[in-house]
Amino acid sequence: MSVIISPSLLSADFANLEAELKKAKEFGAEWIHFDVMDGHFVPNISIGVPVLKAVSQKCDLLKDVHLMISNPKKYIKPFVDAGADLLTFHYEACKSDTEVFEVLDLIHSYNVKAGISIKPGTNVRKIYKFLASTDLILIMSVEPGFGGQKFDPRAIFKISNLREYMNKYDFHKTLIEVDGGINESTGKECVKSGVDVLVAGSYLFGHDDMKERINKLKNND
Ligand code: DX5
Ligand code: ZN
Repeated sequence: MSVIISPSLLSADFANLEAELKKAKEFGAEWIHFDVMDGHFVPNISIGVPVLKAVSQKCDLLKDVHLMISNPKKYIKPFVDAGADLLTFHYEACKSDTEVFEVLDLIHSYNVKAGISIKPGTNVRKIYKFLASTDLILIMSVEPGFGGQKFDPRAIFKISNLREYMNKYDFHKTLIEVDGGINESTGKECVKSGVDVLVAGSYLFGHDDMKERINKLKNND
């Protein structure tokens, strides 16, 4: 399977979102990454339900929604109604493993795909127990909260360890996604380590050669 590209709208021109979405699709992106920040779980505020609703009306790419928010359970339904196809929440935003399972079940009850994300400092082994119940694991390669940060190489080890574990125990349906500081070279490292989905914001948006950049992320051998 070739790698899936999920451009992060956080770096897009918000005054021209429709044009930005069109470009992403035309240039070969399969997904669109939608970063939700609440100023509480992360020290920044971004976009939320009304913007996702507008984006969903104009864009038929898979809406890959990354919830960087406290109390994710409370906001699952509004994001489902706004058109999310995949809802990823943070392991660190949950008080217990039981809560993680509850959020996964809630998302799945709406027939939407569910993902769990971990911050750079969280040990990947902590999420192994959820693999049978999740569609995707999102490995953060920067501290969540801002675009344009430098890739944290610890992500490479996490991706390889997770891939190895998933191969060993036959978790072939769960995807591995990486987010933060992805460019031509870090993207290549991640794909070599076994990632399925590359999120990229500042590397893609705001450049005249977005098409070539998407191609570079895809052709990584
Ligand atoms: C960071 C977000 C990322 C961000 C990535 O908290 O989750 O999706 O937009 O931006 P780049 O690719 O610029 O690191
Ligand atoms: Zn993100």
